[in-house]
Amino acid sequence: MKQYNIAYLPGDGIGPEVSAEAHKVLAKVSSDYGFSLKWVEFPYGATHYLKTGELLSQSALTEMADCSAMMLGAVGDPKVKPGVLEQGILLALRFHFDQYINLRPAVSFPNVPLPIALPKGEQINCVVVRENTEDFYMGIGGRGRKNFQVPLHAKRALYDFNATLDVKLDQDIEMAIQLGAISRPGIERVTRFGCELAKKRGEKNVALVSKSNAVPHIYGFLDEVTKEVVAKEYPDLTLSVVNVDALCYHLARKPQGWGVMICPNLFGDIVSDLLAGLAGGLGVAAAGNIGDGLSMFEPIHGSAPDIAGTGKANPIAAILSAAMMLQHVGEDKAAAVIEDAVKAYLADAKLPQMPIEFGGSASCSNVGDMVLARIK
Ligand code: NAD
Ligand code: IPM
Ligand code: MN
Repeated sequence: MKQYNIAYLPGDGIGPEVSAEAHKVLAKVSSDYGFSLKWVEFPYGATHYLKTGELLSQSALTEMADCSAMMLGAVGDPKVKPGVLEQGILLALRFHFDQYINLRPAVSFPNVPLPIALPKGEQINCVVVRENTEDFYMGIGGRGRKNFQVPLHAKRALYDFNATLDVKLDQDIEMAIQLGAISRPGIERVTRFGCELAKKRGEKNVALVSKSNAVPHIYGFLDEVTKEVVAKEYPDLTLSVVNVDALCYHLARKPQGWGVMICPNLFGDIVSDLLAGLAGGLGVAAAGNIGDGLSMFEPIHGSAPDIAGTGKANPIAAILSAAMMLQHVGEDKAAAVIEDAVKAYLADAKLPQMPIEFGGSASCSNVGDMVLARIK
């Protein structure tokens, strides 16, 4: 029997709650479809950090690298300063494994209440292809006053970035600086991924989400290189460049009709939460951090401390992320069966059987059980 070792980091808040439901579903499809999953669990997150001061260990990274894929719940906890766990665990993993794509489909499922009703028969069915290693997520910058130096270091698979910024202010005021950077190979690889996906989806156009009118150095470069790659390598595709502010406006008025949206890291983060809201909720929004090495699957939502421990979390995003993971390792049939089970459950659910997120009464584990019951 085929066995996959899966690195598993449940994390904080609702992370372990929603992941447990994904586990239930994976246990069923793996036994039905003749493969096994061996879970290699990691304790990283707020509790481990507060107890030991450790965020991630080198030996854990080595162990993870030997796995077929990784599943993550969420990290982040109000007891820890914002950013410590997020940068020290989540972003560190994305960067370490050079997971340069964050693939975030936004799909509205029939019968799920939407904040903006769609014309009958229409659906939101687009996908954010978020660049996942560069932009304002380089993590480089600093703060100071009057005369100060900012060390700028970021190590990526593509390059080791090193510089020092000498800041000289004519006044003694405090200032903070954060650098955004993008590289030609970084843009090329996300553009190729987006274009290949558009071809697979049978689309004629890809959208680039930019803001070169106001942030010309990095996003002007982004526009230029993306246009070059599409023109040279994908002559059958057209490229539309849309400013992120205008995109938000268009989405709020008409969220359907979009296809592949290539986004730099920060805009991709924001636009994917907006689309998640428009397509039903964060509780149904799945994601995959894809690279040429270990890829990591996680819902796009966070640890939701406001509902952690209450049973109110919707586990569908985690369940659909698990399906993306199965597709990634080549278990397409089992992945499709999970997606079909989610659709079937949502399509037939009366309000009381709906997740609490959608105004229903089904707890996190109830939702997991109802999806499980629809596995064919
Ligand atoms: P969040 O995504 O955790 O929550 C935003 C809102 O959506 C909250 O009201 C929450 O209750 C709701 N929500 C989220 N997931 C839900 C689900 N499955 N079912 C029902 N409702 C759900 O974002 P936030 O509040 O900005 O962040 C909370 C913590 O999570 C912070 O520490 C943040 O840094 C972290 N975070 C982590 C990740 C990750 O690990 N991938 C992603 C985003 C945020
Ligand atoms: C996400 C999250 C992370 C991000 C945070 C927690 C660092 O919001 O996965 O979307 O900004 O990428
Ligand atoms: Mn986010």
